[in-house]
Amino acid sequence: MRRLLVTGGAGFIGSNFVRYWIKQHPEDRVVNLDVLTYAGNLENLADVAAAPGYQFVRGDIADRLSVKQLMEDEQIDTVVNFAAESHVDRSILGPEAFITTNIIGTFSLLEAAREVWADFNGTQRFLHVSTDEVYGSLAQDEPAFDEQHAYAPNSPYSASKASSDHLVRAYHHTYGMPVLTTNCSNNYGPYQFPEKLIPLTILNALEGKPIPVYGDGKNIRDWLYVDDHCSGIETVLRGGAPGRVYNIGGINEWRNIDIVNLICERLDELKPGAASYKAQITYVTDRPGHDQRYAIDAGRMQTELGWSPQHDFQSGIERTIQWYLGHLDWCDRVRSGEYRDYYVQQYGEPVKS
Ligand code: NAD
Ligand code: TYD
Repeated sequence: MRRLLVTGGAGFIGSNFVRYWIKQHPEDRVVNLDVLTYAGNLENLADVAAAPGYQFVRGDIADRLSVKQLMEDEQIDTVVNFAAESHVDRSILGPEAFITTNIIGTFSLLEAAREVWADFNGTQRFLHVSTDEVYGSLAQDEPAFDEQHAYAPNSPYSASKASSDHLVRAYHHTYGMPVLTTNCSNNYGPYQFPEKLIPLTILNALEGKPIPVYGDGKNIRDWLYVDDHCSGIETVLRGGAPGRVYNIGGINEWRNIDIVNLICERLDELKPGAASYKAQITYVTDRPGHDQRYAIDAGRMQTELGWSPQHDFQSGIERTIQWYLGHLDWCDRVRSGEYRDYYVQQYGEPVKS
């Protein structure tokens, strides 16, 4: 039986992971520590909130003393660190929160774990969830990122994640902390905040708004269905070697414009309008420093740990589109801030923005 501290468990991937873990391991303790920024939403976990082993705690990973107390009280043996500022465009508009949470927050969490786990007993694990964006950008003909690829982050977001990865690595090298780092490609699926490409495209299409495509739309991302990321993290927690890095990816490269067209075509079938949704596609000014291509070589996950993605893109994107069509009320609430009102009602204090 494990006792997990999942940080950022009210966000997109974190909430999918909490649900995944509770279903797979109902006997485990799962403590979800989340400060609830604009991206964190307790409604994402409404269906598992009453599960016997589950507990939500509102708090900041940068609050070392509280985190230390929580880890002691809960006898945590496994930390899975999702908590982060995660949106590249927001990091360009205002990088400071990314430094505070992604770097200082991860540092504080490492320090709390180091103090609580004064003697590493072989069962503890600190898994840090990171991104392929730390490796920078690939040209069209370059091989996909493997774990030896040099770090070359290009946005404040990816630089802050790279920095946190280095801290995690150093805590293993210096203190022997049993850390694991996963660097994953772009995720998609239910509960993704509608500021990221796939949900934004679905919603703007349905709402008759322009569908913004940055630059020429030919930038490439490697898309992984979120459940496959969750199973990859579980695989690494179970079999990964402390101190080792694992790249997790979908082996599924798509140009942005092709994904946008695909979504429009499917919506044309599901929710036909007077004209194709493609008419709403609008090329807009490119993102500054926009990375051209990401692609993950997940060979280590496959050969060493026997993991591979289970969802192909066709079924994953279909599920995702259907999920958003069935959860338009959720989309309205997270965008309108209605869930913040819910939080004040429920807990009596406003949500940090
Ligand atoms: P998200 O923005 O949807 O969720 C982040 C969560 O962290 C939110 O619930 C937020 O409230 C919480 N949080 C933020 N600051 C906090 C703090 N100081 N203390 C406690 N909680 C805090 O992000 P996501 O897309 O679910 O990404 C989760 C993790 O996975 C991030 O570390 C991200 O870098 C990484 N990642 C994401 C992707 C992707 O495609 N989304 C790909 C690879 C890696
Ligand atoms: P995003 O979902 O923000 O993820 P990331 O920047 O972490 O890869 O963006 C995915 C790709 O889609 C990226 O190349 C930027 C592009 N994009 C657009 O073209 N239009 C948009 O409105 C958004 C949000 C992203």
